Amino acid sequence: MEHPPQVSEKSSAQIYRRLLGYVAPHWKIFVLASIALALVAGSQTSFVALMKPMLDGSFVERDPDIIKYTPWVMMALFLVRGLGGFISSYFMAWMGREVIKKMRAELFDQLLRLPVSFYDVTPSGSLISKFIYDVEQVAQSVTSAITVLVRDTLTVIGLLGYMFYINWILASIMLIGGPIIGYVINVISKRFRRYSTRIQNSMGDVTQVAEEVIEGQRVIKTFGGQAYELQRFDDINEHNRHLNMKMETTNAASVPVVQFISASASAAVIYVATSEPFLETLTVGTFVSFIAAMMMMYGPMKSLTQINATLQRGIAAAQSIFNFIDMSPEIDDGTVEMKSCNGSVVYQDIHFNYGDDGEEVLQGIGFEAKAGQTVAFVGRSGSGKSTLVNLLPRFYLPKSGVIRIDGYNIENIRLQDLRDQISLVNQHITLFNDTIENNIAYGRLGGANRDDVIKAAKAAHAMEFIERLPEGLDTLVGENGVLLSGGQRQRLAIARALLKNAPILILDEATSALDTESERYIQGALEFLMSNRTTLVIAHRLSTIEHADLIVVMDKGRIIETGRHEELLERKGHYAALHSMQFRDVE
Ligand SMILES: Nc1ncnc2c1ncn2[C@@H]1O[C@H](COP(=O)(O)OP(=O)(O)O)[C@@H](O)[C@H]1O
Ligand SMILES: [Mg+2]
Repeated sequence: MEHPPQVSEKSSAQIYRRLLGYVAPHWKIFVLASIALALVAGSQTSFVALMKPMLDGSFVERDPDIIKYTPWVMMALFLVRGLGGFISSYFMAWMGREVIKKMRAELFDQLLRLPVSFYDVTPSGSLISKFIYDVEQVAQSVTSAITVLVRDTLTVIGLLGYMFYINWILASIMLIGGPIIGYVINVISKRFRRYSTRIQNSMGDVTQVAEEVIEGQRVIKTFGGQAYELQRFDDINEHNRHLNMKMETTNAASVPVVQFISASASAAVIYVATSEPFLETLTVGTFVSFIAAMMMMYGPMKSLTQINATLQRGIAAAQSIFNFIDMSPEIDDGTVEMKSCNGSVVYQDIHFNYGDDGEEVLQGIGFEAKAGQTVAFVGRSGSGKSTLVNLLPRFYLPKSGVIRIDGYNIENIRLQDLRDQISLVNQHITLFNDTIENNIAYGRLGGANRDDVIKAAKAAHAMEFIERLPEGLDTLVGENGVLLSGGQRQRLAIARALLKNAPILILDEATSALDTESERYIQGALEFLMSNRTTLVIAHRLSTIEHADLIVVMDKGRIIETGRHEELLERKGHYAALHSMQFRDVE
């Protein structure tokens, strides 16, 4: 499956720094958790350190004080360790959740600000998996990875420090393995990062296909697409498994490799320590304590090696999240405030194409709709009608040319103000999984109350069916209104537009999903909606077009004829031809 290109490859340092920005506000908590981790690490080293006096004192010298206190000291150390463990786990988790919450909020905010063109090319599955999967990966790296990183690094440092303290020669030998381990971990990290990015994309694919199957279940059932979908999902599922296994293999292999290197260093230490002249300088306590410290380093070293996978996953996820957050939002640099308008609309020599290449979809479009007029667009499918009207709410920006409302270039009007002036009803009606009332008064435009909603519903001829529903306006419509018929959904959309009461109305084949019967039924509602406002209508209904103040006939992105219905029929040109072909059956 294709994935949108990554915006930029950020260096790890940049990502770390930016991630730190999410943790920074909670620095006090972080310090607290780190102190707790330091306690855990300290208690670890103390255990080893305790061994020396215990062995030398109790077994060798039989010092009664040491014999008496040792068990108590051990208990105390466990207590400190337990307490530190709890505090650090709790506050690290707290921080991780805060980071997730903040990132999700930023992702969501970005969803609301990205332009239509972004959604045209981005599969929704990859977006949803950012919310669900990627943020969790980041949180993991913030909580468990940082915990391990802080605690085990401190433990290793503590143990090493102790080793240097009791015998610096042996400790120095131990250090030889360090650079080699560092090199290995670096190589492995890059591999982890690469696989993590692929796994994230693959999670997006899994989400995408599952989502498509859920949404398209009726088509799948009627067209017998089960086998095809199974195969498609199987491939993606297998790919995901394969990538995860590669990650796990690398992870599993990295531990023994690192352990072997440190074991070699330990072997060198033991070799030197047990050599005749050297051995004589060591007490039993020192020797055992040193070896114990060496052994104790394995655990933390192992965790540090393993946690690298989690850390790299988190960084790859953070990168994907940051790339998304950094995408340019819709351009909104207009300064003209427009609280209301008369609604005159003028298009001047508009050129447009989707993307940067490809042929022009609109090639020099110009027309004028005076305030309150209706302009109808007709033409073959693909001639650019929808594209044309979609430029008005600035879903897309023209490549050249100017569009004016009340004489103002729409690019200079504040985006929200501009969109407040426009109601849009098209064939894809969007209903939210909410009550009928909330769907009509979507966003509570202008603080509409229930009476306003009822008035709009009545005017849209929607109240008739709403009243028959068991819970009336409080009925839940289901996801995208599945519990309603096409005509009912359409009437809710009209009621919503009526309630918004914007001076400019765009109807893009608003009734094409309906049969002639239901269409006739809501025709009255539509006409009521169109009265007293500027309307750009793309329609296949003759009656709507017949009464239009201007008919614009389009073909391949150009206007090939304009005029009123009778004029155009008399001219016996394109419109007349279209008319006899397309509208014959309706008449
Ligand atoms: N989001 C899009 N991205 C790329 N091309 C598009 C997009 N929408 C429409 N097009 C193309 O633009 C042309 C005009 O489409 P459209 O405006 O929808 O025509 P109409 O509404 O007249 O049927 C078509 O060739 C179509 O393939
Ligand atoms: Mg269209």
